[in-house]
Amino acid sequence: MILALFLLVSIFSTSLAQGPTLVLLDNQVIRETHSIFFKSLQERGYTLTFKIADDASLALSKYGEHLYKNLIIFAPAVEEFGGMLNVETITQFIDDGGNVLIAGSSITGDVLRELASECGFEVDEEGTFVIDHLNYDVTDQGQHTKLVVPSDFLIDAPVIVGVNKDVAPLLYQGTGILADPENPLVLPLLTADSTAYSYNPEQPIKEYPHAAGKDTVLIAALQARNNARVVFSGSIAFFSDEYFESPVKKAHGGLEAAKSGNEAVAVAISKWVFKEHGQLRVKSVKHHKVGESVPPQAYTIMEDVVYTTEIEILENGQWKPYTADDVQLEFVRIDPFVRTTMKRKPSGEYEARFRIPDVYGVYQFKVEYDRVGYTRLYNSTLVSVRPLQHTQYERFIVSAYPYYTGAFSMMLGVFVFSFVFLHMKDDEKKSKKE
Ligand SMILES: *[C@@H]1O[C@H](CO)[C@@H](O)[C@H](O)[C@H]1NC(C)=O
Repeated sequence: MILALFLLVSIFSTSLAQGPTLVLLDNQVIRETHSIFFKSLQERGYTLTFKIADDASLALSKYGEHLYKNLIIFAPAVEEFGGMLNVETITQFIDDGGNVLIAGSSITGDVLRELASECGFEVDEEGTFVIDHLNYDVTDQGQHTKLVVPSDFLIDAPVIVGVNKDVAPLLYQGTGILADPENPLVLPLLTADSTAYSYNPEQPIKEYPHAAGKDTVLIAALQARNNARVVFSGSIAFFSDEYFESPVKKAHGGLEAAKSGNEAVAVAISKWVFKEHGQLRVKSVKHHKVGESVPPQAYTIMEDVVYTTEIEILENGQWKPYTADDVQLEFVRIDPFVRTTMKRKPSGEYEARFRIPDVYGVYQFKVEYDRVGYTRLYNSTLVSVRPLQHTQYERFIVSAYPYYTGAFSMMLGVFVFSFVFLHMKDDEKKSKKE
């Protein structure tokens, strides 16, 4: 009985390992048409709660606590969310560290467009498709909206889109996104070819398309300052069973594959957006003088210090030492006085050794590590650096020799003078006596 309970508890806890996830759908059919994607999530330990996007009982939090860690919105047509859900509550969810995966389509509703713009993406109007008259699949219906996108157009960040970049070409049908290139938090995960543009295929082109050429983003991502992650795909079909299993063949020859790369990329992106990949943390920070092991109350200028830190990465649910050769340490007093690349020791720690500059004040040891797809690391430790105590200065310094000479010659002069003075007085007395 107890054993069975234990088993149940352990099964329950492993199934909750990746955190509860709310999946919003336009209708229950999407559950069937995107079953491979959902199944891969469930197999990795996500508890999925499927709801229709305008269900009146929807809520992301209860009594101020979030019920879910992740949110999937596969409901392009939704006009308004049901229950407690709206753009503000979802934005609040992201502000509190929640992760969101959104898929739109050519009928993306205003509410999703508004949500996307909160995250820094601009989604094209309703009815628009990304069109490319040179790179479409042979099964295209004639409007050239079923695109064949080579995997080269994926962002160069294996941590997000998968270690193997040589996946088969990808199939995409949906709307185009513009991502603000000035916004450092936004990443274009997949872009279209230079011949693509986003427009309504039913209408003659009267104005400049919303997005054209390589600026047309197909899948965009945001890693917010609190490290919450959001992915917006302009295509819900990208995640569908049909596209996962479909062969790819570009019309007019060229790219061809028996199975599209969609599944590999979609799974990799879902791993990233729900923080299975690219999660870093600082495990420990130590600093002390060379030859000692505890930090002093205050450092003194010109001392040699050792700074060590351990950085870990989450891999398959476990924190492991992170290996990189580009972690830098700064020693900052308003401006960095020292900036040095830390060495990775065999024990897995990063270490920097340097000499404190000849300027006293309040400093910080600062490690800032910001790489595409990884958690932004920031750790700072405040220390004070004091000037030398008066007993720590050298007793005689070369540049002061004229002064020493002056002082001693003065003393010598006084001595000689007084001797001469006394002696002369004696002579006077003697001469008076005589
Ligand atoms: C830096 O990392 C240490 C060890 O993990 C932690 O105790 C400290 O709070 C961190 N400091 C900041 C500013 O994050």
